[in-house]
Amino acid sequence: MVIGAAGLLGQYLCDEATERGLDVMATYNRTRPGGVNYPLEQLDITDQEAVFASIREAEPDMVFLPSALTGVDYCETHPQEAWAVNAEGTFNVATSCKAAKARLLYVSTDYVFNGEKGERYYEFDTPDPPSVYAQTKLEGERITLDADNHNCVARVAVLYGWNRVSDKTNFVTWALTNLRQGKEVRLFGDQRVSPTYVPNLAKVLVTMAEGNATGIYHTAGPDCISRYDMGLLIADTFGLDRSLCRKIRTEDLTLPAKRGLTSCLDIQKVEAEFNTRMVSFSDGLRDMKASE
Ligand SMILES: NC(=O)c1ccc[n+]([C@@H]2O[C@H](COP(=O)([O-])OP(=O)(O)OC[C@H]3O[C@@H](n4cnc5c(N)ncnc54)[C@H](OP(=O)(O)O)[C@@H]3O)[C@@H](O)[C@H]2O)c1
Repeated sequence: MVIGAAGLLGQYLCDEATERGLDVMATYNRTRPGGVNYPLEQLDITDQEAVFASIREAEPDMVFLPSALTGVDYCETHPQEAWAVNAEGTFNVATSCKAAKARLLYVSTDYVFNGEKGERYYEFDTPDPPSVYAQTKLEGERITLDADNHNCVARVAVLYGWNRVSDKTNFVTWALTNLRQGKEVRLFGDQRVSPTYVPNLAKVLVTMAEGNATGIYHTAGPDCISRYDMGLLIADTFGLDRSLCRKIRTEDLTLPAKRGLTSCLDIQKVEAEFNTRMVSFSDGLRDMKASE
């Protein structure tokens, strides 16, 4: 069962699980994905009774929860809504999974770390969330892991890929649209991240679920790259003008939510335990170009 089939990751999770011949059912909140070949129902995860009924009736072995309020600045300015969806919504899903004896895989974020370590974070490093979004996601992790020791948390970062369901952009599609229109894109040169290619991530998460993964895993791309360097790679891969990428510093822009400077994730654990490879940013971009 995938909660959030219209989200960027949710849509690829549904496709991947369906392609593997798994018996998939999925939910959506406001945007209903069209043309899908699995059962779909509307579900708002803040509605405790509806969540309970939906999971009880579906009797899933495994529930994926990619749904969340994902706008980092939106969460900062709407903290009550952020807590309601990301923490209480996760509580509703986790308790319903427990009652239905279903395992839960919760998707979390590199932003649970404050980014001050200056190098990659391991699963056992101590989180210190610098924003409301990150606090609510960390609470979602805690709820997931406390609810049952068969549950799993997968931390991801800067998701990118083609969105086949809605016009919601991600870092790469946003940069591409602007570069193609000849517009300048202002990109932080001092924030380093591990961009994660969603089609690859979906494969890895389904593999982890089939392999009964429990506890925390970092499941991001292998790079530790600045947002400015990401912009240059996007321009180069798609044959666009790289001089439109302008390097800025975090202090040049006042945003509502604080971001850490280096939130890169170490991914040795998932690659070793599940004999898998997370796709690099340059390979992910090449795949996007080939599949546009
Ligand atoms: N995007 C990133 O760069 C990034 C980075 C690190 C971690 N993550 C984490 O990765 C996960 C997937 O991210 P994504 O970018 O694929 O997300 P996304 O495209 O923003 O999709 C999020 C989904 O959550 C749904 N949702 C919001 N409120 C809901 C509610 N009350 N009940 C049920 N569903 C609700 C949305 O549906 P509606 O729009 O219809 O409301 C949407 O389909 C999230 O948990 C996010 O925190 C993302």
